[in-house]
Amino acid sequence: MMDQANRLSKLTISLHWIIAILIVGLCAVGLYMTRAEAWALYPLHKSLGVLVLIIAIVRIIWRIWNGWPAAAANYTKLEQVTAKVIKWALILGTIALPFSGMLFSGASGHGFGIFGLVLVPAQHMPGNPAEVLAYSEFWASTGETMHHVSAYILIAAILLHMAGALKHHIIDKDATLKRMLGK
Ligand code: HEM
Ligand code: HEM
Repeated sequence: MMDQANRLSKLTISLHWIIAILIVGLCAVGLYMTRAEAWALYPLHKSLGVLVLIIAIVRIIWRIWNGWPAAAANYTKLEQVTAKVIKWALILGTIALPFSGMLFSGASGHGFGIFGLVLVPAQHMPGNPAEVLAYSEFWASTGETMHHVSAYILIAAILLHMAGALKHHIIDKDATLKRMLGK
């Protein structure tokens, strides 16, 4: 079933909340693991990140096929434009983060995979297997910078998006949030 103004499809709702939970979790794990040097969390972060990319592609195909859901109430022009810009930032962020993370982890020689299935193998230093050797220093540092910059843009977009959802629910008292909760 396609999205309607008063009712969103189960696919739209499921994809939205699966991705929302994974992304918020990945941001929290990412910020924590880099600061606490919790190396044991890196494989989990990478696996869930690659999983997000797969689900995000399904979602984008669904969005193109279905179109954007119509607004639940009469939004002002400013609201329509900001909501659209933020939704695009969220969608591009769900692609840019996994992409830059894979570029960084792959090129740096650390490698990555998805739950034990190796996608790009680590490259250990000959004679010192505890250290890794980069396949490309340039692409590793480009990927790392992209991952950091897009992470902060994505976190800002999520906070604005949540503030918007709460504003519609609490101040405007319209159906925007209820509709995304399937009510
Ligand atoms: C939607 C998916 C993802 C999100 C939201 C995300 C988010 C984050 C965040 C917020 C950080 C901390 C950045 C900082 O401290 O400045 C981080 C770090 C990191 N992420 Fe991701 N990430 C995602 C996917 C991936 C993937 C797919 C990989 C690798 C295959 C990856 C590898 C890493 C690595 C290696 C770090 C540590 C960076 C460093 O030490 O400089 N991430 N991620
Ligand atoms: C965590 C709290 C979140 C809440 C309360 C929330 C709430 C909502 C609501 C109420 C809508 C419907 C807006 C409308 O009808 O115009 C929506 C749509 C949307 N949200 Fe979220 N959201 C959250 C997190 C996220 C995250 C982390 C992402 C990142 C990808 C995201 C991406 C989107 C997108 C792209 C749409 C447009 C509709 C669609 O493509 O399914 N949301 N959200």
